[in-house]
Amino acid sequence: MMRMRTKLSQLACAVAFSAAACGSLSAATITRDNGSPVGDNQNSQTAGPSGPVLLQDSQLIEKLQRFDRERIPERVVHARGTGAFGSFVTSADFSDITRADLFRAGKTTPVFVRFSTVAGASGTPETLRDPRGFAVKFYTEQGNWDLVGINFPIFFIRDAIKFPDFIHSQKPDPVTNVQDPNRAFDFFAHAPESTAMLTWLYSNRGTPVSYRKMDGFGNHAFKLVNAKGEVHYVKFHWKSRQGIENLTPDQVPQMIAKDWNYLTNDLYGALGKGENPQWDLMVQVLKPDQIDRFDYDALDATKEWKDVPERMVGTLTLNKVPANFFESTEQSAFAPSHLVPGIEPSEDRMLQGRLFSYADTQIYRLGANGINLPINRPRVPVTNNNEGGGGSALNRAGSTDYDPTTLADLKQDPAYRLIETPLAGTTQQRAIKKKLEFRQAGERYRSLSAADQSDLVGNLAGDLKRVRNQDNLYAVLSYLYKADPELGSRVAKDANADVARVKQLAAKLEG
Ligand code: HEM
Repeated sequence: MMRMRTKLSQLACAVAFSAAACGSLSAATITRDNGSPVGDNQNSQTAGPSGPVLLQDSQLIEKLQRFDRERIPERVVHARGTGAFGSFVTSADFSDITRADLFRAGKTTPVFVRFSTVAGASGTPETLRDPRGFAVKFYTEQGNWDLVGINFPIFFIRDAIKFPDFIHSQKPDPVTNVQDPNRAFDFFAHAPESTAMLTWLYSNRGTPVSYRKMDGFGNHAFKLVNAKGEVHYVKFHWKSRQGIENLTPDQVPQMIAKDWNYLTNDLYGALGKGENPQWDLMVQVLKPDQIDRFDYDALDATKEWKDVPERMVGTLTLNKVPANFFESTEQSAFAPSHLVPGIEPSEDRMLQGRLFSYADTQIYRLGANGINLPINRPRVPVTNNNEGGGGSALNRAGSTDYDPTTLADLKQDPAYRLIETPLAGTTQQRAIKKKLEFRQAGERYRSLSAADQSDLVGNLAGDLKRVRNQDNLYAVLSYLYKADPELGSRVAKDANADVARVKQLAAKLEG
C-alpha cells in the first residue's frame, strides 16, 4: 500500500510539473484498489462509439464510488483546522508533582498539534472572531495524552449540560442557516458566567494574527499524581515564544478579503522556511488543601487561578507539515479522556462532560476503529480484548479475547490504579456556590491597554447593536457594567443604550 501511494505521488508530480522538477521517476502503472493495472484512466467503456456507458467498467464504478465517499462527518465544533507535527522536550524535573513518564527531565516526546476555529464550518475564513483550538497529542511511552485546549485561559460555561445549547446558539440559525448575534446573546443574557469569556473573545485576542503568535491553555484543573501517590491540582499554559500578536478590528475584514486561509498559510509558510514555532509549557500547581482558598470555585472552568505562580516544565516545537491533510489533520481525534499514568481529571464539571463527549463523537465521526488510524494510534503496543468494528485491522491473533484467563499471558499492574479520592455528601443537581460571575471580567478589562480597551468596547457594541430583544441587550450590558462600570457605560453608549437603566439593573446583580 505504502509503495503504491509513493508511486502515485510521483505520478502526480509528473503530471503537475515537468519530469525534471520531479527528479528521476520510474514510471508507475495506475492500478485499481485491488492492485490490478488500469489500461485507460481517461475513457469510460461504452457500447460502441455512441452507445451508453457500461456497468461492467469496474474502474469507472470504483472510482466514482470512492469519490462519493471522500468526506466523513465534519466535527460538530472546531471543524476548520490545521495540523503540524513536532516534539515536546521536558526541561525541568517535575517528578515532585507527577510520575507521568513524559515529564522526566530531558525526555523528548513526539507530538501532533491541531489548531482550529470553533464555530465555522470546515471551509470558513480562519481569521473570523472565535476562540482558537490548541489541541496537542503527546505520543508518550505510556500511551497517548491529549491536552485539548484553546487560546483563552477560561471558558463560557461551567457545566457540560449547557454545552449543546451554548453551541446551538453560536451556530447558524436552523431556519436561515446564518449566524445571528440575537441568538448568541439570547444565550449569554441567560449565562452571566460567560461575561469574563466575552472580555477575551471580543478583545483582539479573539482574532489572532497567527497560530504561532497565540498562547494555549488546558483551561480546566487536572490532578497530577506523583510516585508517592500525592495529588496536586494543576492548570496548563502554553506560552508562545513568538509573542502574542492580534488583528485589530479594521484588519479582520481586510484579511478575510485577502486570504481565507491566512492562518494555515502563515503556519505552513513558517514551517517551510524552517522557522519552527515554540511554546513553553507553564504549570500552576495547588495542593488539595489550597483548592478552596479562593472566593471563587477553583474547579470552575470560567475562572482563572489568580496569583498562583507558574513553573516551566518544557518546550513544544513544531517542525513538520503533515504529508496528507485528510489522513492526519482531518482524521485526528483528540480526547480529554486520553490520559496517561500520573495525569487524572479533576472534578471540574465541564471536564467531566468532555471525558465522555469526545471519544463518543469520534466513534461516530471515524468509527469504532478511528483510534487505530496511524495519526491516532499510540506508539506503544495496545493490548486488550476490544475487537471487531468497521475497519478493524488490529492484527489480533489467538483464541483468547477475554480476561481473566490462564490461556494467555496478560496481566494488570496495580501500580497504575487510579488515585482514590475521599467523597462525602449526597447526589444532587445544584449550581456551585462560589460563582463570582463578574469580577474577573472587570480585572481583564482593566488589564488591557487603552487601545485594546477601546477595541473591546467597539467589538462588543458592534454585535450588541444588532440584538433586537431589549431584555437580552440590557441583561448583557448590566453584566458588563457590574464587571466594570466604565466598561459597561462605554459599551452601552456605543450600542445607543440607556446607561442609567444599565446601572440600575447592575445594582441588582450579585458577585
Ligand atoms: C462540556 C463541554 C464541551 C463539550 C461537550 C465539547 C465537545 C466537543 C466535541 C464534540 C468536539 C469535536 C471532537 C471531534 O469530532 O473530534 C470538540 C472539539 C474540540 N473542543 Fe470541545 N467541548 C467542550 C468544551 C471545550 C472546552 C472547554 C475546550 C477548551 C478548553 C474545548 C476545546 C476543543 C478543541 C480544541 C476541539 C478540537 C479538537 C481538534 O482539533 O480535533 N472544548 N469539542
